[in-house]
Amino acid sequence: MKQTIVSGMRPTGRLHLGHYLGVIQNWVKLQNDYDCYFFVADWHALTTKYDKTEDLRQNTLDVIIDWLACGLDPEKSVIYVQSLIPEIAELNIYLGMITPQNWVERDPCLKDMAKILKTKEGQGSQINYGLMGYPVLMSADIMMFNADYIPVGIDQVAHIEITRDIARRFNNLYGEDFFKESKPLLNDCSLLCGLDGNKMGKSFNNDIKISDTEEETAKKIMTAITDRSRIRKDDPGHPDECEVAFKYWKIFADSDEVQTVREECEKGLRGCAQCKRMLAEKINSKLAPIRQRRKYYEEHIDEVHDIITKGSAKAREKAGEVLTKVRSLVKMY
Ligand code: TRP
Ligand code: SF4
Repeated sequence: MKQTIVSGMRPTGRLHLGHYLGVIQNWVKLQNDYDCYFFVADWHALTTKYDKTEDLRQNTLDVIIDWLACGLDPEKSVIYVQSLIPEIAELNIYLGMITPQNWVERDPCLKDMAKILKTKEGQGSQINYGLMGYPVLMSADIMMFNADYIPVGIDQVAHIEITRDIARRFNNLYGEDFFKESKPLLNDCSLLCGLDGNKMGKSFNNDIKISDTEEETAKKIMTAITDRSRIRKDDPGHPDECEVAFKYWKIFADSDEVQTVREECEKGLRGCAQCKRMLAEKINSKLAPIRQRRKYYEEHIDEVHDIITKGSAKAREKAGEVLTKVRSLVKMY
C-alpha cells in the first residue's frame, strides 16, 4: 500500500519558474511513489479575496494548466478543485467544532495575513470568520484523504502543526486512532531568486512565468542583475558576485557549461549582455517541452475540464469513505 500525499495551491493565476523548480518538479517526482492528491484551494482564496472573484475561475484553470504542462499526470495523481469536493466542507464543520479558538488565534500564518489585510482600505480589510477558519479548512483538506505527507513551503508548517493537533484531538475525543498525524515535506523555494535578486514573486514584478513566450523570457533575462562591479564588457568578471545571472546558469545548465561561463567571465571574454542572451536561450530550450504542452492544453481546454471533472470524482470517492467513518465516529444520524 502506497502512502498518501496531499498538497494544494491557492488560485493565484499563472505560475512562475520558482513554483516550477521549488514545488511542482517535486510533485512530479512524488507522483511515481505515492498516492497523490493535488488541488486548487479556491475556498482558501475566498478567505481574503471574497470581494474580488472575477478572475477566480480563470486563475484556477491557469494553475492546473501549468501543473499539467510541468508534468503532473492525471493517470498518476488525483487532480481536482477544492470547491468541487463538498465532503471537505462537511469535514470542516466537524473539525471546527473541536478546535479551540486560541489554536487558530495563535497561528502565525494567520497573524501575518491579518496584518497585511489591516493595511488595506475598505471592505477588503476586514477579518472575517472564514479567514479565522483558514487552518481548520486546511486541516480538512489534509485529513479528508488521511495524508501521510504534505509537501509545502516553510511558511505553511505552522498550519500543518495545527492539523496534527486537530487530528490528535479528534482521535482522543471519538475514541479511535483513525486520523494520521500528517507530516510536512519541505519544498525548497529559495532555489531560484527573482530577476532583481529578491524572492521571486508575482507581486514583485521580478518573475518569469512558465507561460511567458521565448521573447518575453529573453527580455526579462536581460534585466537580471549581474556582477555590479563590472563596467566594460572585457573587464574580468566575478561569477560568484554575479547576483542573478550566474545563479540561473548553475540551475539551468550542466556543470561543463557552467565551467565555461565561469572561465570566459573571469577572463573578460564574455560581456554580460552576450552572456544573458545565451542564458535566455538555455532557459528557453529547457522550457520548450513544458511550454509546448501548455500550448496544447490551452488549445484543448475541454480536455482540461475533463481532467478536473474526473479527478474531482476520484477525490470524492475517497473523501466519501473517510466521511462515512467520521460521521459514524461523531455519531451523526
Ligand atoms: N495554504 C496553502 C498555501 O497558501 C494552500 C493549501 C490549502 C494547502 N490547503 C492545503 C497546502 C492543504 C497543502 C495542504 O500555499
Ligand atoms: Fe554574470 Fe555572465 Fe556577466 Fe559573468 S559575464 S558577470 S556570469 S552575466
